[in-house]
This record gives sequence, structure tokens and C-alpha cells, in this order.
Amino acid sequence: MAKIFGLGPNGKKNTLSGSAPSGDLTIGNYIGAVRTWDEIQEEYNSYFMVVDLHSITTRQDPKVLHERSLSFYAQYLACGLDPEKNVIFLQSHVAEHAELAWILSCFTPFGDLSRMTQFKDKSAKHPKNVNAGLFTYPVLMAADILLYDAHVVPVGEDQKQHLELTRDIAQRFNNDRGETFVVPEPMIPKVGARVMALQEPTRKMDKSDPNPANTVFLLDTPKAIEKKFKSATTDSGSEIRFADDKPGVSNLLQIHSSLSGQSIAELETHFQGKMYGHLKVEVAEVVTERLKPVREKYEQLMNDRDYLQTVMRKSAGRAREHAGRTLARVFEKMGFLAK
Ligand code: TYM
Repeated sequence: MAKIFGLGPNGKKNTLSGSAPSGDLTIGNYIGAVRTWDEIQEEYNSYFMVVDLHSITTRQDPKVLHERSLSFYAQYLACGLDPEKNVIFLQSHVAEHAELAWILSCFTPFGDLSRMTQFKDKSAKHPKNVNAGLFTYPVLMAADILLYDAHVVPVGEDQKQHLELTRDIAQRFNNDRGETFVVPEPMIPKVGARVMALQEPTRKMDKSDPNPANTVFLLDTPKAIEKKFKSATTDSGSEIRFADDKPGVSNLLQIHSSLSGQSIAELETHFQGKMYGHLKVEVAEVVTERLKPVREKYEQLMNDRDYLQTVMRKSAGRAREHAGRTLARVFEKMGFLAK
């Protein structure tokens, strides 16, 4: 069997993922990504980031960003990520991300970046702030992934195009300079890869949605969760089944299925002859049940900020070790003198 490039000293593959603190974490982030991180953390050498550098492509209030970055960190731990076994860190604490992003930007065609749908969507949403960072965002994301030799990257479906670009950049560099980067594979869940907005189920649930009724946040109270699901948009007819012409009901079914572990087919049978109201109440219960321990652990952690700061700093040191090794390899390939 061919030797796999980039394995850790323990023979395990690596994984890396992250989320940007540009709004509060939603059940979309949880179901599409964080839940998978929790499931795979033992199997891989795992790196999970609070992607604060990425968040500033849209304007962030410094006080809010500061508090939210700590809050994201605590939410990661509250969701079950173990900072002793994994490296959980802030992107801005590892300078190598920005350094590698510059080098990779010189290996990324302008045309490839122009095709990114997220760039097109975000520049349409913020026409007065179409900054260069928004355009080169995917290159920084490629640097995040390639620095840690990530073999797999667990993300929701909206990040698939950025992953394809990362693979192209890695392959282009490897072809030009010899094997340097692991070419990563996306890991996208079968159910729940695209959780939709509750009021407008034809578009994605988004942490920066101005309408809070569209979004269930990880830290919402049980009352708020119940209210949001009760007012979720459903579809015409009364049958509870997963179908293209039933985006509202299908969204509720996928949320239920991804958290309860019951298949969509099992849920369709379970809800046969029942009304939309039954489905809404049950989904709210499943979500509340799953998030209850997360909220409790979160409160505990936020009361011990010294602990959070200590693990955060220690983890950044571990991240810098791996990132530094990769960057040294890239320096050599570029002809830069070793630091
Ligand atoms: P972000 O912060 O928008 O989202 C974090 C993760 O949550 C997933 N996600 C969803 N999944 C299902 N349904 C939804 N409605 C939904 N909304 C978000 C996203 O796919 C993502 O996996 N660019 C990234 C952050 C990033 C990153 C990285 C990720 C920066 N560097 C390196 C992986 C590897 C982002 O803004 O994710």
C-alpha cells in the first residue's frame, strides 16, 4: 500500500476545521460541522479553530468580537471537544496562517477566486465593503487547512467550493515544487449538511441573519427554541414527508434526524397521520434535549475565564509547533532562508 503523506507521529491522520465568530453559533453550525468534530476527535490528530481572522472581512465591533471569540472557545469545549486530546485554538494566535496565506495567494489565479459563490453572495450583501480580504478569504482558509496537513476537513455543504479550491492550490503547489502539502478531503454529513432558515426554508440558516426567528442558537433557552420552532414556516398540504416541494417540513425532518439518529424514512412513518404541529413540538424537544448539557457546561466554563485563557494559550503553542514545521518546509521549497 502506498505510504500516506503527512501522518502524525502516532500514525493517525489529521483533521482541521473551524468557525468564524461573526455571529453566534447556530444549530446549522452544530449539525453541519461541530457535531462531526465531536464524533471524530479521537480518530484523528484534531485541530479546531476559532477563525477570528476570517471574521473581520465584515466589520466587527472590537468589544463584541473579543467576547464572542472567548464564547466560541467555551462553546466548542461545551460541545464535547477535549482540549487535552485536541488542539483547540484561535487563528490569530498562530502567525503562520497569515504568512502561508500570502505565499499561497501567489499560487492562486485571480479567476478562481472570482468564481467563489460565497464572495459573490457576500459582496452583494455588503456592497459598501467589498474589501480585498473578502476576495482572498479562501486563500487564508487554504492556509489554515494546509498548515496542519489535514487529510479530512469536516464542514457543511456551503464550504465545499472552498475545499475544492484548497485542493487545487495544494495540487498546483505540489506539481510545481514537489510533494509539500497533504491534499485534503472534505467530510460532509449525509444528513444536515445544509440546515435551512426556519422562516425562509429555501435559504441557509446563517449566524449573521438579521431576523433571529430564522435561527436557533446553541445558547438559546428552551423557551426560545420552542417559540422559534412553533413559528417555523411549513408548507401547503398536511403530509409530513421529505420532498423538494416541502422545504419547511423537510428542514424540520433533517434537523430531527441528524440529532435523534432516526432515519428520515423512520420519521416519515412515525409522523404518518400526524399534524405539522406534532412535528414542530417534537423537533423542539429533540433540539432542547441535545443543547441542555451544552448550555450548562458553557455557563460553568464562562465562570472560569482563567482556565479558558490558560488552555487557549497552551493550545496555541501546540498549534504553532505543527504550523511552524509546515512553513519551514514551504520556505525551503520557495528558496527563502530558514528563520
Ligand atoms: P462558518 O463559521 O460559516 O461555519 C462553520 C461551519 O458550519 C457549517 N455551516 C452549516 N452547516 C449546515 N447548515 C448550515 N446552515 C450551516 N451554516 C454553517 C459550515 O459549512 C462550516 O463547516 N470559512 C469557514 C470557516 C473556516 C474554515 C477554515 C472551515 C475558516 N478556515 C478551515 C474549515 C477549515 C466559515 O466561515 O464557516
